[in-house]
Amino acid sequence: MLTQAPKGTRDMLPQDAYIWQTIEAVMRRRAALAGFREVRTPVFEHTELFLRGVGDTTDIVQKEMYTFKDKGDRSITLKPEGTAGAVRAFLEGKLFADALPCKMYYLNNPVFRYEKPQAGRLREHHQFGMECFGGKEPTVEAELIATLLGILGDLGLKGLSVNINSIGCPHCRPKYHAALKEYLSGRLDQLCPTCRERFDRNPLRVLDCKEEGCKALVKDAPSMLDMLCDECREHFETLQTLLTARGIPFKVDTHIVRGLDYYTKTVFEVMVSRGREGLALCGGGRYDGLVEQLGGPATPAAGFGIGTERIIMELENQGVTLPQPPLCDVYIANLGAEAKQPAYLLCQQLRDLGVRAEEDLCGRSLKAQFKYADKIAARYIVIVGGDELARGTVKARNLSTREEQEIPLDGAAEAIRALAQG
Ligand code: HAM
Repeated sequence: MLTQAPKGTRDMLPQDAYIWQTIEAVMRRRAALAGFREVRTPVFEHTELFLRGVGDTTDIVQKEMYTFKDKGDRSITLKPEGTAGAVRAFLEGKLFADALPCKMYYLNNPVFRYEKPQAGRLREHHQFGMECFGGKEPTVEAELIATLLGILGDLGLKGLSVNINSIGCPHCRPKYHAALKEYLSGRLDQLCPTCRERFDRNPLRVLDCKEEGCKALVKDAPSMLDMLCDECREHFETLQTLLTARGIPFKVDTHIVRGLDYYTKTVFEVMVSRGREGLALCGGGRYDGLVEQLGGPATPAAGFGIGTERIIMELENQGVTLPQPPLCDVYIANLGAEAKQPAYLLCQQLRDLGVRAEEDLCGRSLKAQFKYADKIAARYIVIVGGDELARGTVKARNLSTREEQEIPLDGAAEAIRALAQG
């Protein structure tokens, strides 16, 4: 128990840190190129925010939230997604009063959902998300999708499919709800038990049910696209034109509805092929009503979220390896007691000069220090001690060419830096 992390959680171990950091660097770069700045919001929020924001009929709110009472008897929830917190920060920071659009991103936000853990489905995962407030044009979604694909492309991922849909707006969706309910009402006995429950509270979710019976049934269901109002239709058509103009292949999939209540108009997912179903690497869409619903001024908005663990899983599946930065440029070995302090000082001076330097912290023999230097793939080993130290010098050895040179201890750090970075 003590040595086992809670079910559905994962450590990022030091040897894997470079993978996360490379992904983060790519995300930061692409986000900055598109004019997005970072936002950081608390890991927990008032439960009410998610009930109102995510929607109290969603699976997330009904079954998956980590909710508890704090010592002040407030109901608190660990973030089950990133958008509601971003909207709350947008409102609390009065960012709506600044020049719009306001573009923000969050990076590796911990997200908590009490789900049945399986491949790609964790109870704590980490999300990168981009949220754009104040833009009503379909260019917003086109930019979001292009930025997302830029990130995934920079990381070396291939074979991704972009699926888009429009689920309309408060003007046209009620008509569709009614048509869908009418279609389903005569066929309730053919729905899975979960969808029978969904029929009343959230019939749209029946459209993306993975059960075979439900999938077969919704094949002939009426399509939202046939019932979009003029504004929603035009928006969706323009988005498709923009994606095509940018050379982004996409598929219109009328069964994408997303598991959160706040979406309006565009919804999209980026999928990787995984078995028959595929796995969503990313999900997002437009949520024009959410800011107002949470008490702010009417503000169109759109965004997406992508799980870093799923990106890493897909990198592994596709055999993409990210370049691993060197751990150590120079290992400083000491030849015994009198060499330890000069070795330590040289190591510190090298670090001040920007050289990755390591020294012996374990009291090892010279042989064992060499072995360790080899293990951490040091490029140079500098030996401090013996006759050289008595002469006021140290010996530097290039570990790949085996070339050695004697360097005066006075000014050694500069000389070694020139070697190591030369
Ligand atoms: P979501 O589709 O629920 O959307 O999650 C976004 C992404 O987070 C998923 O595509 C997946 O990569 C990852 N993810 C979700 N659940 C898990 C899990 N249990 N384990 C591992 N990874 C997971 C949202 O959360 C929206 N807030 C996205 C958004 C932002 N829409 C507009 N703005």
